[in-house]
Amino acid sequence: MKIGIDKIGFYTPHLYVDMNKLAVARNVEPEKFTIGIGQEKMAVAPITQDSVTLAANAALQILDDADREAIDFVIFGTETGVDHSKSGAVYVHHLLGINPNARSVEVKHACYGTTAGIQMAKGHVALNPESKVLVLGSDIARYGLNTGGESTQGAGAVALVISANPRILTLEDKSTYLTSDVMDFWRPLYSDKAFVDGKFSNEQYISFFQTVWDKFKDDTGMELNDFEAICYHLPYTKMGLKALRTVLDEATEEVQERLKENYKVSTQYNRNVGNIYTGSLYLSLLSLLELQEGLEAGSRIGLFSYGSGAVGEFFTGILESDFREHLAADQHASLFESRKEVSVPEYEEIFDQTLPTDGSDVELDINEDPANICISGITDNMRQYVNKLR
Ligand code: COA
Repeated sequence: MKIGIDKIGFYTPHLYVDMNKLAVARNVEPEKFTIGIGQEKMAVAPITQDSVTLAANAALQILDDADREAIDFVIFGTETGVDHSKSGAVYVHHLLGINPNARSVEVKHACYGTTAGIQMAKGHVALNPESKVLVLGSDIARYGLNTGGESTQGAGAVALVISANPRILTLEDKSTYLTSDVMDFWRPLYSDKAFVDGKFSNEQYISFFQTVWDKFKDDTGMELNDFEAICYHLPYTKMGLKALRTVLDEATEEVQERLKENYKVSTQYNRNVGNIYTGSLYLSLLSLLELQEGLEAGSRIGLFSYGSGAVGEFFTGILESDFREHLAADQHASLFESRKEVSVPEYEEIFDQTLPTDGSDVELDINEDPANICISGITDNMRQYVNKLR
């Protein structure tokens, strides 16, 4: 049975900061951010968006009534969840009106959570071929103002429907994975900002890629020439390129050119959003599928997922015959075009606006936020969510 990605949606907040201007404000050469890191624009989440609302807004675009009935499992991948106990999946399940006879859980391992969710979904569909699973990957990446990681922040979410007979990408069965207890990036429970050993995280990312790629080749007999493109988890767009470069000489010159060209296309959305942690790999896949006009059905795409701490996985998918008809490139182009630039001081002010952590109530103005689903405040320690379409 074929199982894979039947639908894919994406949402990013309506505000962004220009990386050239951020560089000037931080006294670094703009090319460091635009070339060295590889980012043009960084999404800025207003206080009326959190990982739940971003995920719900991403899923809202792709679900129809038949999906709402057929979905019996909601898996929410995040490392910036809103509650230590209750899963973000339950809020999304309610906000989207999904069939009550469903399981809803949150899955965490840094930027790997969505991949874990997809693999769980695949197993669930294998046992229950009529089921559809909604997998969400949603995060707000925060390192802090004036920190080394600041230029690699961002915010956004992807939503994927995993089903039998998928219309976009069939996931192949063989994948290779690796776990090792390393401290390259973590976020203690008391902190709303990540701790990171940046250089070490770059090294671990590359080492994990090489290990799972070598094992994949050993296990399957496949080689680089069998791939049309490889999409990477992209904390920033230069990162995947560093990993790709370490294996490129395994391919013919023609394939090397193709992989480099497709890599570039697969980073376009991420260049303009920043790091969305666990959704980043799938934002890169979406960028490739929606922007690479030459991509042909039947092509094999490699996917490298990495979550600091660390877990890595390499797996593959085959493009379905009419995959392009099931994408929403125009909708995503409008989403990007409708965004509003904020100045660096405005971004700093928004960054410092956080929800109370002392148990007090707050009411937020959601009129400034064009998103359909927002957080409107906190009452008696309970987040209040609004779906403006209801
Ligand atoms: N023009 C072009 N490139 C420039 C430049 C300029 N004027 N100035 C610097 N650069 C390049 C550097 O050569 C370097 O490129 P390289 O990595 O290919 O060698 C790149 O810009 C980044 O410079 P660097 O000094 O390494 O940046 P940094 O010390 O500020 O840290 C990160 C970069 C990614 C480590 C940091 O942003 C971070 O910690 N991010 C969060 C963690 C993360 O994303 N980890 C990834 C794995 S999960």
